[in-house]
Amino acid sequence: MILRGLTAADWEEQAELIHGSLSTWYRTRLNSAKFGEDAAPFRVFPELYEALDPGCCLVAQEEEGGPLTGTAFFHPRETHWAVGIVATHPGAAGRGVARRLMEEIIGRAEAEGKPVRLVSSAMNLDSFSLYTRLGFVPRRVFQDMKMEVPEGGMPMMESGRVRVRAAREADVAGMADLEMRLNGIRREKDLRHFVENRQGCWRLWVAEDGDGVVRGFLGAVVHAGSKMVGPGVCEDEEVAAVLLRQVLDAEFRGQAPVWLVPVDCAGLVRRCYEWGARNVELHLASVRGEAPEMRGVTLPTFMPETG
Ligand SMILES: CC(C)(COP(=O)(O)OP(=O)(O)OC[C@H]1O[C@@H](n2cnc3c(N)ncnc32)[C@H](O)[C@@H]1OP(=O)(O)O)[C@@H](O)C(=O)NCCC(=O)NCCS
Repeated sequence: MILRGLTAADWEEQAELIHGSLSTWYRTRLNSAKFGEDAAPFRVFPELYEALDPGCCLVAQEEEGGPLTGTAFFHPRETHWAVGIVATHPGAAGRGVARRLMEEIIGRAEAEGKPVRLVSSAMNLDSFSLYTRLGFVPRRVFQDMKMEVPEGGMPMMESGRVRVRAAREADVAGMADLEMRLNGIRREKDLRHFVENRQGCWRLWVAEDGDGVVRGFLGAVVHAGSKMVGPGVCEDEEVAAVLLRQVLDAEFRGQAPVWLVPVDCAGLVRRCYEWGARNVELHLASVRGEAPEMRGVTLPTFMPETG
């Protein structure tokens, strides 16, 4: 098996591989056709990830020049490396392709002394087994929630002690510090990338108190290939609810985005149900290596999968 870096010439084939892998897995295991027939939206991964983390993707082949059998993106950050998305061609499943890709990434992260973090489906025993065999430990459970946001907007709610507004360049360090204080990880690069928004698809909102202190932030991606809320980290569920309502209202009217809520944040979960959200899947946040406690109300995302 050969591992090498992704090149622009691979994008088309990689999108087909990721689509084929996800759609086959969900169709055969969960009887779900949620990934559709079209591979084109899956170009979102190389398109957005190569802009955020250039050169941070491995592909696998049986032999030089042969078809791609697997792919894995990685995201080096100040405190950790994150991994996602990982996919093996359905025709090469169970032959150690994903393990080889992961081992290579883990080895590079270890050489820098960094733990590795990822979010994976709790309904997927293949990826659960792959990651836990490699030493990842599930730390938190999230429910994936989805709703059709009304064209007329979300119901009003009291904003409590915080004021919510679109984030600016000057907020970036404060938001990164908040995540460091609450969850022990730092990824300032992502927050800056969101605020710069060169690709036009990134959103980032911040909640601050009356003294201008950052109490939470919440991003989103609004792209033909991915409509998702997150990443977000908040001091408490009230701040998270205010931010989530604002992001849904401002960015997703008439659309049906997905977001992840920690299952133990019962108040936030209840509020999502009141809005009409439905559960569509469960995910686990896992860490290999040092895993600081996650004390914040955390809303991870699959785009970008960097926390
Ligand atoms: C998840 C996925 C990437 C795994 O890829 P793969 O190349 O088939 O996996 P590998 O063969 O490298 O490794 C699977 C490991 O899990 C182990 N495994 C699989 N099922 C298991 C089970 N029920 N219990 C214990 N171990 C199990 C295998 O033995 C193997 O470990 P080993 O190498 O130590 O023997 C692949 O199924 C896929 O692409 N799925 C769709 C996309 C997806 O879900 N991606 C993950 C997103 S988080």
